[in-house]
Amino acid sequence: MPESTIESVLQEKRLFQPPAEFSQTAHIQSLEDYQRLYDKAKADPLKFWAELAEQELHWFQKWDTVLDWQPPFAKWFVGGKTNIAYNCLDRHLTTWRRNKAALIWEGEPGDSRTLTYAQLHREVCQFANVLKQLGVKKGDRVGIYMPMIPEAAIAMLACARIGAPHTVVFGGFSSEALKDRLVDAQAKVVVTADGGWRKEKIVPLKPEVDKALANNGAPTVENVLVVQRTQQKIQMEPGRDHWWHDLQAGVSGNCPAEPMDSEDMLFILYTSGTTGKPKGVVHTTAGYNLYTHITLKWTFDLKDTDVYWCTADVGWITGHSYIVYGPLSNGATTVMYEGAPRPSNPGCLWDVVEKYGVNIFYTAPTAIRALIKMGEHHPKARDLSSLRILGTVGEPINPEAWMWYHRIIGGQRCPIVDTWWQTETGGFMITPLPGAIPTKPGSATLPFPGILADIVDLEGNPVAANQGGYLVIKHPWPGMMRTVYGDPDRFRRTYWEHIAPKDGQYLYFAGDGARRDEDGYFWVMGRVDDVINTSGHRLGTMEIESALVSHPAVAEAAVVGQPDEVKGENVFAFVMLENDYSPTEELANELKAHVVNEIGAIARPGEIRFTEGMPKTRSGKIMRRLLRNLAAGQDVAGDTSTLEDRSVLDKLRGGA
Ligand code: WTA
Repeated sequence: MPESTIESVLQEKRLFQPPAEFSQTAHIQSLEDYQRLYDKAKADPLKFWAELAEQELHWFQKWDTVLDWQPPFAKWFVGGKTNIAYNCLDRHLTTWRRNKAALIWEGEPGDSRTLTYAQLHREVCQFANVLKQLGVKKGDRVGIYMPMIPEAAIAMLACARIGAPHTVVFGGFSSEALKDRLVDAQAKVVVTADGGWRKEKIVPLKPEVDKALANNGAPTVENVLVVQRTQQKIQMEPGRDHWWHDLQAGVSGNCPAEPMDSEDMLFILYTSGTTGKPKGVVHTTAGYNLYTHITLKWTFDLKDTDVYWCTADVGWITGHSYIVYGPLSNGATTVMYEGAPRPSNPGCLWDVVEKYGVNIFYTAPTAIRALIKMGEHHPKARDLSSLRILGTVGEPINPEAWMWYHRIIGGQRCPIVDTWWQTETGGFMITPLPGAIPTKPGSATLPFPGILADIVDLEGNPVAANQGGYLVIKHPWPGMMRTVYGDPDRFRRTYWEHIAPKDGQYLYFAGDGARRDEDGYFWVMGRVDDVINTSGHRLGTMEIESALVSHPAVAEAAVVGQPDEVKGENVFAFVMLENDYSPTEELANELKAHVVNEIGAIARPGEIRFTEGMPKTRSGKIMRRLLRNLAAGQDVAGDTSTLEDRSVLDKLRGGA
């Protein structure tokens, strides 16, 4: 988070009450109601979650045990049988929602499609049958590498319907990143498209799949299914590659949902951590379904009449939980948009709001900051009066951006929910409930009922109000990740051992620093590990470093975040070259392109600084703190006495 954000957050004192007329019709109507729910959940979390599971979900068979907790491994609703695709589709078909819009999709070139619950159900069943015909069985993993088109959601739901865990790989990742994920998940099938539209250009996807699979790159993949979207010429390998529309033609729209055990794996989603290799975060069926369902319902005060729009990509957890599963489980109308603001149409988001009468709008602070730059005349030229609630996610929001969002987009009438959560948590953890909790710009406010959050030191002791510390969760919750795919030990090490168990209680360590103010409000300050947040995307510095050192010119690389007004953080790389190479601009550009190739455009370093040495401790650890100072254009602050070779600092300052 940029320094200026930290400063402005620290000075923030404004308090915004939920508008009275909003509270009157809200699911949770007052601070007292919130407190009652919170206290009830805290007193007996199992009863709290069990009651909700009974009320909110359909079960083929009820569970025997609400929670089986063998720290750090949790099982929820053990013995129960349910299916999230059934909860998202079938159960709505016997109600008036049958003909309600489930998914409203807007393509970047202006094409659009609306699928009712009945239509979506039919397409999901057909595609589930296609997968079955290709030999996909319960438990087989399916890779999904798609643009933002309805088929992405259809493929996810079809997998869920037959019990084949999906692993969605963000369409902006390169073939190398895709290959790693397909190999780790041992995917049997890949679902993709010829390409997608991004800022008036075709982003090719199928050619990336071809590269990933070339030379037996991902040997478990037997079939590739291709949606025709952008219609450029692509290679189709006979026997392996099939057009979606060919296989779907004439296939039965009847495919009963497989009764799944509560703890059957629903999906794997890869996310960046502190080591070079991304982790496969595993989510399971029932707990994730309940958690995304109830957090969305209460946090966005979701009503049956709402048109709800989350601008994330389905390749990230926000897209999984809050474009697809959470909204559909609630029987809501969810909007999916392929495009992004672009020079030829900077106001496109507001066109979508106006066109569909969007009531709930959920985006990221980095998007808001980019929109501020484009100018307020764009939103002002559209009718945004349908909006009733706004949300943000992905990084701390600076109060200036919050206020702009509140004034210009929300017309000063829409509550803003700043939702703190992670891929690992499945759903919202700390967030305002809009009819109940007064908001402060820059604060995610209070924990969701059932979530016991705290701020502690490394020994697990709670810190005093307004002291910084580590954000932890003290009790398991239904939406929590269950393990790292294929590496339970890594799960334990990463999340449960940094902070010692306190009085026998295991603490989930989120990797974020935070403080709590005198009102108990949480202010998340950003990552405390080697993870950076660029345009709301989470990237491991080690991941980018490994990409850099895989280039023959690079002897050593250290990557840090550099404060950036719009992106939050920029990727800034310090690079030491092998002897035969000289530091030229061409080489810097080549290295940037190399990172794009290895990971994807989201990881492209904004700046590469060549250096003759790295600041290291005597034990050989790179002192990233110093590099962060230098990248921010500041002089090196704090203690440098552990530095092994002080002359390195002078070289770095001079840019070698
Ligand atoms: C950051 C995205 C402050 C945080 C859902 C977290 C936030 C990481 C917020 C997870 C917020 C997310 N305020 N920081 N409202 N929301 N973060 O896994 O550092 O892509 O650990 O999940 O984003 O990123 P992830």
